[in-house]
Amino acid sequence: MARMNYIAGNWKMNLLPEMAVELTELIKSQLVPKPNQEIVLFPQTGLIPLISQVLLDSTIQLGAQNTSDQLSGAYTGENSPELLKALRCSYCLIGHSERRQYFSESDEFIARKAEVLTSLKITPIICIGESLEEREKEIHLEKITNQIKAIYQRLEPDVWSGLVFAYEPIWAIGTGKTATADQADEIHKFIRSEIGRLGNEFVASQTSILYGGSAKPSNAKELLSREDIDGLLVGGASLNADDFLNIIESC
Ligand code: PGA
Repeated sequence: MARMNYIAGNWKMNLLPEMAVELTELIKSQLVPKPNQEIVLFPQTGLIPLISQVLLDSTIQLGAQNTSDQLSGAYTGENSPELLKALRCSYCLIGHSERRQYFSESDEFIARKAEVLTSLKITPIICIGESLEEREKEIHLEKITNQIKAIYQRLEPDVWSGLVFAYEPIWAIGTGKTATADQADEIHKFIRSEIGRLGNEFVASQTSILYGGSAKPSNAKELLSREDIDGLLVGGASLNADDFLNIIESC
């Protein structure tokens, strides 16, 4: 079975309602659906109900940028995954480096979020990756291994096939500095082999691994041509309909 390809747009903390609807309508009206390809938009939480309405008659999927690790209850300010489900989110980003860095999210906390999402059948897109300093100190592979290990230690094997990973080297996010296709592919192969070792080989062969970090129309084709790169998680370039559609075309 071929792995699913993804082009995912992470809007981060950008766009107000009018612009978000306009962008979604533009993408929706020009998108030509392809087999085995999933397009997912990740608006900030307050926009989700609105974008969910716009996407009602579309093949484009909706995702959230974050979730609580609890289903519901007294957790002021958090996003309930049950609410995300009710608003038709089928995906959720977890462990984005901006959350790990600015909100001190640990590997274990992220694994709990993965667990709660899979219990609701929301697909977690688990972001992993190293900083420039870690790469220079050559401890990046160890860091990535620990990020993956926490997930397979926490989750039961029956949900392993429902996970998606995104490799996002922190030094490439929002910097304009993309990892070369060779650099990205090398790490993607490493991630797949670690999924095989910490999970199992079958799951490793079926798990989509996306690349993220300054993905744009000029580098999308090259990145996507690599065997182990199953899609792109796009930040900045997903805020522009032409750029985002151009990236989808490359897939
Ligand atoms: P970028 O962001 O494409 O703007 O580098 C990617 C991400 O953080 O997901």
